[in-house]
Amino acid sequence: MAKKKNKAKKATLAEKADKFVCYQKSVQSPEHELEIFNQVYNEAYGRRPLSLREDFCGTFAVCCEWVKSDEERTAFGIDLCPDTLQWGKDHNLAKLDEEQASRVTVLEQDVRAGNTPTVDLLAAQNFSFWIFKKRQEVIDYFKVAYNNLNDEGVMLMDMMGGKECYNTTITDKRKVKKGKKGFDYHWEQAYFNPVTADCSFYIHFRFADGSKMKRAFEYHWRFWTVPEVREMLAEAGFSKSLVYWEQEDDDGEDTGVWMAEETAINNDSWLCYIVGIK
Ligand SMILES: C[S@@+](CC[C@H](N)C(=O)[O-])C[C@H]1O[C@@H](n2cnc3c(N)ncnc32)[C@H](O)[C@@H]1O
Repeated sequence: MAKKKNKAKKATLAEKADKFVCYQKSVQSPEHELEIFNQVYNEAYGRRPLSLREDFCGTFAVCCEWVKSDEERTAFGIDLCPDTLQWGKDHNLAKLDEEQASRVTVLEQDVRAGNTPTVDLLAAQNFSFWIFKKRQEVIDYFKVAYNNLNDEGVMLMDMMGGKECYNTTITDKRKVKKGKKGFDYHWEQAYFNPVTADCSFYIHFRFADGSKMKRAFEYHWRFWTVPEVREMLAEAGFSKSLVYWEQEDDDGEDTGVWMAEETAINNDSWLCYIVGIK
């Protein structure tokens, strides 16, 4: 009888993939973040911001882009997760030259530890503060953020909303890169409890060979609304808050132009920035 060959199983693309590479390619756009940081700060104080604190920084791609953009700029990245920070050191910080890298400081700690020098701009991106589910927890965090800012200081966060964001049957699917090395990004809105506004979201990646990296990232948050966040900013001491909304053209297409607004179109799903002015 012919002997069965003991062939080693070939690894799938999902097994070979790096979840942080996929995340950075599908979720983050540090260049765009810097544009909005510059605009918002300039509209508040008429100058370029120089120091940044990136709370919940993950792989601190934004800090790295920040110091590259201006030789006077410094950045602090704060995150609790050692593995994520290490990936950022090996892949993002390593791409900077020595002088640029010397202007980035990364701290493995809770964002509520307020032990960095004060900065011009504090960013908390990708809905990260939604991890705080109680009003008092958010206000306490905003108070620390306020104290982390210079007198001419701005705190900036992104927010999402619209009726589609509460629909737990929806998975938003997007092709990130085509071809054999390409992959799809899936944003699954898995759970929403209307009584507590507790919600869960998952990020999955699907590859050209059909393999999947399921729940590469998962988030269990409170779904905060824009007016709630503005009220909490005021309670924490911010003198005012602004909401930056992307402008649409006559056909309802996004223009890439963001303006502070007090009313906006009730789209099925939207993203905006909330800015606390010190
Ligand atoms: C949604 S990710 C955002 C990553 C990055 N800011 C971005 O825009 O893609 C949330 C990050 O917050 C970190 N995190 C969660 N709670 C934290 C806390 N209390 N203090 C510091 N970091 C925290 C997690 O480790 C994770 O890296």
